[in-house]
Amino acid sequence: MSPQQFEKLCRRVYDLCGINLKTGKEELVHSRLNKRLSALKMDTFEQYFHYLDNDREGKEVIWMIDALTTNKTSFFREIRHFEFLRDRILPNLREKKLRIWSAACSSGEEPYSITMMLAESLPNFQSWDIRILATDICTKVLEAANQAVYSADLLEPIPPAWRKKYFVPADEAKMTYRIVPELCRLVRFGRLNFMDRFPMKGPFDIIFCRNAMIYFDRPTQENLVGKFYELLAPGGYLFVGHSESLTGANHRYKYIQPATYQK
Ligand SMILES: C[S@@+](CC[C@H](N)C(=O)[O-])C[C@H]1O[C@@H](n2cnc3c(N)ncnc32)[C@H](O)[C@@H]1O
Repeated sequence: MSPQQFEKLCRRVYDLCGINLKTGKEELVHSRLNKRLSALKMDTFEQYFHYLDNDREGKEVIWMIDALTTNKTSFFREIRHFEFLRDRILPNLREKKLRIWSAACSSGEEPYSITMMLAESLPNFQSWDIRILATDICTKVLEAANQAVYSADLLEPIPPAWRKKYFVPADEAKMTYRIVPELCRLVRFGRLNFMDRFPMKGPFDIIFCRNAMIYFDRPTQENLVGKFYELLAPGGYLFVGHSESLTGANHRYKYIQPATYQK
């Protein structure tokens, strides 16, 4: 890929989904897209761009975004947010109702960690009105999230007693485990691009948007946290990744503790 072609691709990806590919990402982008070119039997990126330009149904764009997003996640990643949920949010709820949005949920570890923490912490958990919306731009991770099946090694961060309670064997030979239906039923997955208008009305009590904004520039981050603000209930919380501090950014939230903000 020539520097001009890379530049063109960066602009395109930025306009589509806010992701800033620039700084040192050439190698990664190249190798991810090269596989696609081979599958489509194309020799040059010029051909691929032409193909993208004529992609009326938008299927190739979805494929390209799937290939370029970084979806690293894990159960109970950045545990302090889950502890804050357990110790500071749940004990202060006035109603037995919770609306949570796991924005940029990747393959589902984040929303399912939330369900486990709720099941463990709420008295009479089954009697609560709980809905968790989990969205991502990447269709491939959403498919995995909907399956709710994880290999044994991915379950390591989960306390053994919780693993026993909240997972059942899926495929014994492959050592995979499935989240139990009583937790799955709380989560609804959907594809959503942060750059688009948000179709949901809210209000949410908590929004998790962790480790996605790191790929966005400051104006895109500010715009996004502004959109979240509109959908949060008064007093609602926004959790961002611990490397995504809003310090110095233009926003209306009250700072609570690192990576934790309140409306
Ligand atoms: C590194 S993962 C973080 C997953 C999880 N929140 C966590 O902290 O473990 C970042 C996710 O952001 C998603 N993402 C990137 N750009 C997006 C956009 N414009 N709209 C929605 N999701 C996006 C990616 O597809 C990816 O799954």
